[in-house]
Amino acid sequence: MTAPRILVVQGGVACRGSVRTPGEKSISHRAVLFAALAEGTSAIYGLSDGADVAATLAAVEAMGAQVERASDGSVRIRGGRSRLHQPDHPLDCGNSGTSMRLLAGVVAGFAWETTLLGDESLSARPMDRVAEPLARMGATVEGRGDDCRPPLRVRGGALQGIDWTTEVASAQVKSAILLAGLAAVGPTVVREAVTTRAHTEEMLAEAGVRLSVEPWGDGRVVTLHPSALLPVTPRHVPGDPSASAFFVVAGCVVPDSRVEVEGIYRGPARLGYISVLQRMGAQVTVTPAPDGTATITATSAARPHDTLTATTVAAAEIPSLDEIPALAVAAAMARGTTVFSDVGELRVKEVDRLAAVVAMVQAFGATAHVEGDTLSITGAAALHGARFDSQGDHRMAMAAAVAALAAVPGERSLITGFGAVETSYPRFADDLAHLTGDDPLAPRALVIAIDGPAGAGKSTVSKAVAAHLGLDRLDTGAMYRSVAARALALDIPPDDHDAVAALAAGAEIEVGARVVIDGHDVTGVIRSPEVGRAVSDVAANADVRSALVLRQRAWAKAHGGGVVEGRDIGSVVFPHAQVKVYLTASPEERARRRRDESPAGVARRDRIDSTRAASPLAEADDAHRLDTTGRSVQDVVEEVLSWL
Ligand code: C5P
Repeated sequence: MTAPRILVVQGGVACRGSVRTPGEKSISHRAVLFAALAEGTSAIYGLSDGADVAATLAAVEAMGAQVERASDGSVRIRGGRSRLHQPDHPLDCGNSGTSMRLLAGVVAGFAWETTLLGDESLSARPMDRVAEPLARMGATVEGRGDDCRPPLRVRGGALQGIDWTTEVASAQVKSAILLAGLAAVGPTVVREAVTTRAHTEEMLAEAGVRLSVEPWGDGRVVTLHPSALLPVTPRHVPGDPSASAFFVVAGCVVPDSRVEVEGIYRGPARLGYISVLQRMGAQVTVTPAPDGTATITATSAARPHDTLTATTVAAAEIPSLDEIPALAVAAAMARGTTVFSDVGELRVKEVDRLAAVVAMVQAFGATAHVEGDTLSITGAAALHGARFDSQGDHRMAMAAAVAALAAVPGERSLITGFGAVETSYPRFADDLAHLTGDDPLAPRALVIAIDGPAGAGKSTVSKAVAAHLGLDRLDTGAMYRSVAARALALDIPPDDHDAVAALAAGAEIEVGARVVIDGHDVTGVIRSPEVGRAVSDVAANADVRSALVLRQRAWAKAHGGGVVEGRDIGSVVFPHAQVKVYLTASPEERARRRRDESPAGVARRDRIDSTRAASPLAEADDAHRLDTTGRSVQDVVEEVLSWL
């Protein structure tokens, strides 16, 4: 299963019900690293399934830890300092700043050289803030430029504890120093002027590491004593509060909603965004659960704009700033101007998230601007459907989905780059769909259905549309053809209903650059006149159709939506496809395009396809009909894209 590439959202679809978010990301990263350092096998339940944590998992695996997924859903990690060794390839942290900074701290404690890589956006992020303290402790850390951007080369070894005051409020920097401190000689002290997330010190203390946390001005000072041996501890990772913000805000801003988010981590300062919403007049409650987690309930008014009022938000209320994109949506719906101060750090997130938030708020019809490090958002009486690109930022993708739901009923939004949610929340669209129920207007991956008779131009147009939108394309005709080709190869008459149905039901079919059925590459043969003659009989078989329709729907799930061409795509396979196209062309033109097939053959296929009992070639009621006769491909593609 893959997250939608492009999410289509209709405004005004209420969210009702309860969801759980994936395991808290920061705790998940640390759980993996501590398990890698602990002697023995640790079980982790509820680990985040996002790409960021996957990067940390892959890194500890490359360092010699054994990682297994158990049948009870837990991830088991066999680690220990004695097992770990210098990785034989660079550790790829992908898009995850947490992976890179925390790993830098861990590998600094080993006498190896490790290279830490990131994707394009991570490679542009400053690492000097970890490099400097680690170097002071005795490691050699090299990166690019003055601010030490990745790739990062860390040569670790004998470390000395230090007393360090962090310049930027960052839990990642603090954690990197503390993780290095585990292997240092003498105590390591980290002073932070502003309190940041405390997972590392909390989890280390739980694991029995000697450390103390004292107030220090407005912030805190953490003193850690080295502890080379961590004990093995089973861990249940609670639900991610930052991810909960999207559902909670949806519960506040989408009319007639009531959303419950269960099992959420309740750590200090992590639910700061809820106080902000409460101050804005939203109905949000936090109920502690016996297992130490919380259930958050949000209920919206029929007219959220009338009940939400602007407020002032200090960065310290939301230490990681991760909830700002979600809060920005609430601000965009509130009366007055909400001011977020000291949020300049948003510029160096996965993207310039400050600019992205402004772009999002404006796209949906409210007002936003930035002055220095202050973000101001003035709410609009109504948000409007919009087209918005996540620019690869998962939180922007999720926030935009919520803004789109809050838009005027019936107004449609298109969120491109939605696949970015894989970073932290691959199932986000499914959980959102769970809240919107089986409403036909519920948020869904974009599917473009292209139907029509032979030679109407479906393949050419669907290829070009898919390429333009960055979607995959499925040629369902090739699926029917592959079954016909296999039947012929096995000497099964195409009209032997039961034998062909059994073949289709059991076959493994792959339709991509190559067409393969049950391991036989039939890419060439499916275009032969023999298959052309047999395919319509095979496709008229209702049992073959149901078997292939299931596979076609599964394909769309696995590809995050796509462009699907055939005969019954808009009418039967994807009745909810957001764009349905019915292509036609004059008989002469179609015969000309199908030069490889006799005009009589094409006519016969069209006749059988249109008159068969089982889902015949049909124009869906809501399809756009487009006659491609004499028109250029580009012209047709532009028209199809205009229907988005
Ligand atoms: O698209 P193409 O011409 O390759 O399709 C070959 C045949 O497969 C069609 O003539 C039709 O009989 C069958 N088909 C179908 N339903 C689809 C796609 C193709 O019946 N969705």
